[in-house]
Amino acid sequence: MKLILIGFGAVGQGFAEILLEKCADLSARHQFSADIVGVVTASKGNLYHPDGLDIAHLLRTAATGSFMDYPESEPLRRDWDASDMIRRGSAHVLLEASPTNLQTGQPALATCHLALDQGLHIVLANKGPVALDYASLREKAAAAGLHMRYEATVMAGTPTMHLAEDALAGCEIRSARGILNGTTNYILTQMESGMTYAEALAQAQALGYAETDPAGDVEGWDAAGKGLILANALFGSSLTMHDLDVTGITDISSRDVDQARQSGQRYKLIAEARPDGGAVSPQRLPLSDPLTSVGGSTNAITLDTDLLGRVTLIGAGAGKLETGYALLADLMAIQRAT
Ligand code: HSE
Repeated sequence: MKLILIGFGAVGQGFAEILLEKCADLSARHQFSADIVGVVTASKGNLYHPDGLDIAHLLRTAATGSFMDYPESEPLRRDWDASDMIRRGSAHVLLEASPTNLQTGQPALATCHLALDQGLHIVLANKGPVALDYASLREKAAAAGLHMRYEATVMAGTPTMHLAEDALAGCEIRSARGILNGTTNYILTQMESGMTYAEALAQAQALGYAETDPAGDVEGWDAAGKGLILANALFGSSLTMHDLDVTGITDISSRDVDQARQSGQRYKLIAEARPDGGAVSPQRLPLSDPLTSVGGSTNAITLDTDLLGRVTLIGAGAGKLETGYALLADLMAIQRAT
């Protein structure tokens, strides 16, 4: 499988590390092998080589902030942008892991449409295109016999979409409710231990949980985007951000967190998705709620189904390897299906 990777931040690098570390095992146990032929970044430069880029070199040069030191080897291209790679290259799959834009989805949305038009499967960690233009991307992919996968967009590599779309395919899912943002859950948990909001946010950024612009996390938009993705994918809704009531954690003080703790409760940022709408809001949950004990950057989701009742999944919600893994899981699913 030849891959073009858009974005080489925490998620892209996490995916590359996993591929490097596990390539022998993936090939022996799953006959899976993948080459990153192209990488496109906003600040490090671009690289394309039809035989595959050297991942160890990529990771080393990225650490210096630029691909300038990546060694020359014919026919390496440094001047191709995403469009050149998609149109003129030989990749099978586009991986979109550039920063999320929940206002327009761009530039990732246009890149994803182009990739589908040119016959490439798409795998997204970028939430913008899935939250804002799910139906038309899905339709275009289906019409062309291509796959569109987006496990990374909700709860990192914790298999939320695999669970909902594959394992629970025969159930009707009526609603989803959960802790869907790692950054805010980490901040609220650290505040319970006495850390200030600012310190906890700085740590969440250093650990690679937060978005490039963390306002999207703390104001609730990241969780809302995930709610939209769930509503679109699970219920076939065509909701927009305007259909959700969104409140983040910026008004929750250390004192609020402390008071809740003293009465045996905890603040959690809860996202809910239903076929007709959804909401994101900080809620004071009693210790008896299964979501209350989910701490740090861990996420959890409860799917209410017709045949199984409530099914709850708890696992990583953010992080470099945790989200990078989702890209691998999606690629392996595409390999199994083609
Ligand atoms: N910023 C996101 C979070 C990353 O904190 O959950 C994972 O989508």
